[in-house]
Order: sequence, then structure tokens, then C-alpha cells
Amino acid sequence: MRLFIAAVLATAVAGQESCLSVDENPYLLFGSKTAYLFANHALSTNRVHEIPGCLPVAFWLASRHGSNNPEASEITKLQHLADLKANIVDNYRNGNFRNTNRRICSTDIELLQRWQWIPYINTTFANGLTSEGYMTTQQLMRAWKQRYPGLLTDNPHDYLVKYVEEPLYSASFRASADGMFRGPTEGLDIPRDNDEKGIRPYKFCSAWKSNVGENNDTLSQMHIFQSKQEYKDMITNVSLRLGFNYDINPDIVYSMYQMCRYNKAWDNAAISPWCAVFSREELQLIEYAEDLETYYKYGYGSPDTPKIGCTLLRDMIGFFTKHIQHDPDPQQPRAQIHLTDSEMLLMLLTTLGTHQDPAPLTGDNYHTSPVQARKWSTSRMSPFNANAAAVLYKCTTNGNFQGKERYQVLFLENEYPMYLEGCRVGLCDWSYIVSKFGELANTCDLGFCNSAVKINGFSALFVALACFVRNIF
Ligand SMILES: *[C@@H]1O[C@H](CO)[C@@H](O)[C@H](O)[C@H]1NC(C)=O
Ligand SMILES: *[C@@H]1O[C@H](CO)[C@@H](O)[C@H](O)[C@H]1NC(C)=O
Ligand SMILES: *[C@@H]1O[C@H](CO)[C@@H](O)[C@H](O)[C@H]1NC(C)=O
Repeated sequence: MRLFIAAVLATAVAGQESCLSVDENPYLLFGSKTAYLFANHALSTNRVHEIPGCLPVAFWLASRHGSNNPEASEITKLQHLADLKANIVDNYRNGNFRNTNRRICSTDIELLQRWQWIPYINTTFANGLTSEGYMTTQQLMRAWKQRYPGLLTDNPHDYLVKYVEEPLYSASFRASADGMFRGPTEGLDIPRDNDEKGIRPYKFCSAWKSNVGENNDTLSQMHIFQSKQEYKDMITNVSLRLGFNYDINPDIVYSMYQMCRYNKAWDNAAISPWCAVFSREELQLIEYAEDLETYYKYGYGSPDTPKIGCTLLRDMIGFFTKHIQHDPDPQQPRAQIHLTDSEMLLMLLTTLGTHQDPAPLTGDNYHTSPVQARKWSTSRMSPFNANAAAVLYKCTTNGNFQGKERYQVLFLENEYPMYLEGCRVGLCDWSYIVSKFGELANTCDLGFCNSAVKINGFSALFVALACFVRNIF
């Protein structure tokens, strides 16, 4: 009898179930845990940035690490998804659906049933670089080298690599070296700098921490967005799809999202059953919530951002200045490479003034067209392996090149020319860089970090206004 009813039910709902795992064009932009391939479309190794009449003389790079394992605390949460999975499968078997045409489809449930936590990802390997992350880092470095063969030589002393001695970054260093110098790199004496205060200044900046990083007001726009009916409907829709007659705890919905984006970053080709739990629109809502967080923490939403982001800019300008001052004597290193994190990379991009929207992102303006087409996009700016490069070119004045200046800097973001005001497809006159950023770089001393002033609850409003004013003038 029960079997009969089940069969009738199955027939009745067949064709109405939506299978999200079979989407031929799935949504793959997952904020700060987006795979480089999805943010960047193609990792093309043979595109050479040739500038007529000019030769590259120095290379500066800030590169985010590749895909990593979750933090130890996250691992425990994600392992609990095994219990949730069992509940979802039970719900399906028991026909536990208020609204059968909105339930997960049988293909998706089978996929979920086969899912299990990868046992070797335990707390010993928390936060470590994955093999996918290692390979992408290696390929990326190899690609840079192929593009600038005369500049990126086989001599280790032409390089200086700055990174923090931690498993994630030490592995990134090995992957980068593997990409740069084919073959064993163990014995190679590549100059390096491990001064964490210079590499990750925000971690040591108490004013930034109290005003921004650890200040709950920083998340107020994100909280406004998450309290919208639309966001709550997303939680309800996911819950209904999985056969729960109550709303799943938002933290658990977030764990499913985390698992989805980790799965796609660890293995770009495999379908993740946890991604199939969300529709495209739902993924976009969660993506925007993270954009609101990064915008106010590391972006235009915080007036402190350029005061920290300037450290990378100062490093770049100092490095190029040295090459220009000593010209024509070649200087070592010729390539200065920072292995960094998404926080510093976003702060650098903000300091450079790229990806700036006409109005601040807020919890209320998601449906406006500027926000739908926003330039501030964590997925595109800071996927795994995100990078910002600047290449100093020396030009001959009689070349057929239209630029007039002897020194030019080409800015690239994830290997494509960066949009910068006052430059031509990422190519800027050195004098323009100096006039635009020289003062900021010269006065960049993180002095404000120790003059902690706790700002009050008006800060969010102040920040929003400050952004707005900056945009008008
Ligand atoms: C993690 O797994 C490895 C083997 O894969 C094992 O040697 C190690 O003890 C495990 N660590 C923990 C904390 O369980
Ligand atoms: C910030 O918010 C969290 C959660 O809402 C709370 O636990 C924490 O105490 C708050 N911190 C401050 C400094 O208000
Ligand atoms: C939730 O589902 C309803 C009914 O299918 C739909 O109209 C609504 O757009 C969905 N909301 C979200 C945030 O996906």
C-alpha cells in the first residue's frame, strides 16, 4: 500500500522537481572562495603584453594564495553536514514536503547521498594549500615567466619573494618557485623576506582592528541585507527544497554554501551536491552579503583602507624608483613578489582606485541597476590565486608608441589590464603614478594604527557619507 502511494506520488510530481545539479550554465561566482578559473574564464599562457617601442625592466606582483583547506573551527562545522545529509535523505524518503513541486529532485538527492567528508582533511591540515591550489599557483607563475622571458630569468637572485612563514604561504612559495624554475627548487637560494608586519600590516594595526576589523558596525549593511524578507525567503526556499517544514538555521545554510564553494575550488570539474541546494538567485544573494562585508572592511566603505593598502603601493613605487634611478645599470631583484591574502589584495585595489562604484553598496540597494552591475565584486577581485601585477617598461622616444614618456607602468589584474583612471588600458605614465600616488606612498607609515580612537555607532553612517562625498568630488 505504502509503495503504491509512493509510486503515485512520484508520478504526480515527476517533471516538476527542479534538478539544480544538471544546470548547464551553473553560477560559479562564490565571493572570496571562487576558483580562479571561474573568475577569470581562461588562464591563457601565451598572451604576451607587448608594448611597441618599450621593454619590460621590472616586475612587481601581489598574489593571493590558491585554494586552501578550511580553518580548524570550520572543519568541525562542515563535518556536521554528514548529519544534515542524513536528515535530508530521510525527508526525501518520507515524502516530507509541504510543497512537492519545490522539492529537490531525485538526481540531486542521489548525488547528495554519495557525498562524504574527505577524511584526510582533518585539523592537522587545516588551512593548508590544496593540490589544486598548488597547481594553479605553479601554472600562474609559469605563465608570467613565459610572458616576460627576458625579465623573469632563471637566476634566483633576480627575485625577492615576500611571504609569512606559515604552512599555507610556505607551500605557496614552493609552488611559485616550482613554476618559475622548472625542476627541483629545494637547493635554490631565492631571496626572501618574512617580515609579517610589512606583509600583513592590518593584523598589527590596532586602530584598524577596533574601528573596522573587529567593530560590529562594519557589518551593519550586511546585517540589514540579511534581515530583508528576500534574504529570509532564500533560507525558507532552501529549507523547503530539502524537505524541512521549518527554516534551517542560517549558520547551517552558510555551512552548505561553504561546502559548495570549497568543493568547486578543490575540484573545478566535479559537481558539488551542496551547490545544487541553491538556485542561481540564492547564490547571488549570499554573494552580495559577502560583498557588503568586504566593501566595508577592506574596500571603499572604510576610510582606513588606503592607510593600510598604501604599504603595498609604497613597496611597488620604491621598487620601480630604484630601477629608474639606477638606469641603465640593471638592479636586483628585477622581480618583487608578495604572496598575500585577499584582505591585502582588496585593500591594494581600493588604494589604486579601481572597481569603484558610483554610490556605496548598502543593504538596501541590491536591486538598483548600479549594484546589479557593480564593480566591487569579491568573486572577480579576489578569487583564489587573485593577483595584481605592475610591470615597469622603459620606452624609446622614437618608437611608434604613442605614449611620450620614457617610463611606463602596465597594471594587470588577474592577468588582464586593470582599469585605472588616467591610464590607457592599464598603461600609465610613470609621472602620473608619482603624481597620483607618490604622496600617499611617502606618508605611508601606519602611524594611525597606534592612535586608536574608538568611534561610536555613527561610524557606519559616517562611512557611507564619506564614500558618497568622495564620489561626488
Ligand atoms: C589527520 O590525518 C592524518 C593521516 O591522513 C593523520 O596522520 C593525523 O593524525 C590526522 N590528524 C588528526 C588531528 O586527526
Ligand atoms: C558583535 O556581535 C556579535 C554577534 O552579534 C556579539 O557576539 C559580540 O559581542 C558583538 N561585539 C561587540 C563588541 O559588540
Ligand atoms: C523563493 O521561492 C518563491 C516561490 O518559488 C519565489 O517566488 C522567490 O523568488 C524565491 N526567493 C528567493 C530569494 O529565491
